[in-house]
Amino acid sequence: MNYDEIHSFLTIYEQETKQPEGYAEQRMAVIKEKGSYWQTTDELTHAARVAWRNSNKCIGRLFWQSLHVFDERQTLTHDTIFERLLHHIQFASNGGKIRPTITVFHPERVRIWNEQLVRYAGYETAEGIIGDPASVEFTKVCIDLGWQPKYGRFDVLPLVIQVNHTLPRLYEVPKEYVLEVPMTHPTNERFSELDLRWYAVPMIANMKLDGGGIEYPAAPFNGWYMGTEIGARNFADVDRYNQLPKVAAVFDLDTSTQATLWQDRALVELNVAVLHSFKEQGVSIVDHHNAAQQFKLFEQAEEKAERPVTGNWAWLVPPMAAATTHIYHKPYKNHYFSPNYFYQKKPY
Ligand code: ARG
Repeated sequence: MNYDEIHSFLTIYEQETKQPEGYAEQRMAVIKEKGSYWQTTDELTHAARVAWRNSNKCIGRLFWQSLHVFDERQTLTHDTIFERLLHHIQFASNGGKIRPTITVFHPERVRIWNEQLVRYAGYETAEGIIGDPASVEFTKVCIDLGWQPKYGRFDVLPLVIQVNHTLPRLYEVPKEYVLEVPMTHPTNERFSELDLRWYAVPMIANMKLDGGGIEYPAAPFNGWYMGTEIGARNFADVDRYNQLPKVAAVFDLDTSTQATLWQDRALVELNVAVLHSFKEQGVSIVDHHNAAQQFKLFEQAEEKAERPVTGNWAWLVPPMAAATTHIYHKPYKNHYFSPNYFYQKKPY
């Protein structure tokens, strides 16, 4: 708890949500007298939204005001937290019409160990890694905690919920809660031979919400995917699913030398497939060109509100066709404003 940070957040809150003049000062007097700070649900809601607005790595910030905030700070048992996480998954997924959502738990007593609420396991085997290499360490933790490995390429990991700093408990996410998209290509029928799928909603569970003088280590949040996150990174990175050689084979590309640009061609087809598949399944997604245009609108709106636009260039620039977006051609100041979201130490 930091009085200066609380004060500056409450000032933002007073101004931006049109509270009566003096709101921040009055709140500060009470907070100092009590020596403790418990945000109102309305303050928490605004903090979570402003934290998104200040997230320098995020290209999707135009929609910061639409974030749905669930205040679950009083939910303190494993079973009830699990139930609220399922509610988050269902509400956010919304049958494909994805809703940006955050569920905020108690600032001291709850921790979710997962990196995302839905993510695929990764197993180290004698024949190499099966599944998502990014999940190998966490998958081991789950197995040590008693989870049964299934050794598939797309096994959804269990939710690992910790309360009051004691041993965490594991919960399987029922299948019907996990919306997934099988990957097909609009013109190449052989593409489905790759047998790729991805989950619909990226729900980050391991970042801390800096709520403006108070921190929430358990505050899973989601937006919707930008296609390249899946097509140019999760499926393409050599240390992730590493599918470019397989895509090249399905499209009969000449892979005799990198100079044929077979990797670039495979990337385009893979990303076409991701966008096509999500669209066909009725699941929200944005391509990187439209996302960049939306980010431009965000920059204009922030300018109009007389707030400085901050950003992390290396993250904002999409990993394909970078120079076709305006983002590539200008510098961004990577300045940290509170509220925000940031990385925290792994609990394992
Ligand atoms: N890049 C991460 C992934 O592929 C998700 C990060 C958050 N993305 C988002 N569109 N909100 O799983």
